Amino acid sequence: MAESLSPEVYSAVLIDHFQSPRNAGAMVDADAEAFVTNPVCGDSLRLFLKIEGGRIARASFLSSGCPASIATSSAATELLAGRDLASAEALTRDDYAAAVGGLPTAKVHCSVLAAAAVHQAIEAWRARTSAHA
Ligand code: FES
Repeated sequence: MAESLSPEVYSAVLIDHFQSPRNAGAMVDADAEAFVTNPVCGDSLRLFLKIEGGRIARASFLSSGCPASIATSSAATELLAGRDLASAEALTRDDYAAAVGGLPTAKVHCSVLAAAAVHQAIEAWRARTSAHA
């Protein structure tokens, strides 16, 4: 059953990100990617990063998740673009939730996916690039 997108539950920013996700889709030339699953509900996120000169040039995502996870993933791709890696890693689930105008209490766990995927993707990129250094 489709989940209600009531404006009494979700912010207008969240609804906009869910209905018009930014940077949705796979990235064929990604330098790093991550696949994470939310242990609470089983929803998943695949995150792709293009990294140039120690910065995230762009990010994209594929999601099999609820409106809150899709919206926070969409907002995350915008928050990540242009950031250096340390700054990207410093972003927390609260930052992603704030970027969609906050999350209802029952949906706070949905912002975990974006935060976990960013860390996993950057750690994998560091491991791969240092192995080739
Ligand atoms: Fe699973 Fe939101 S209900 S991530």
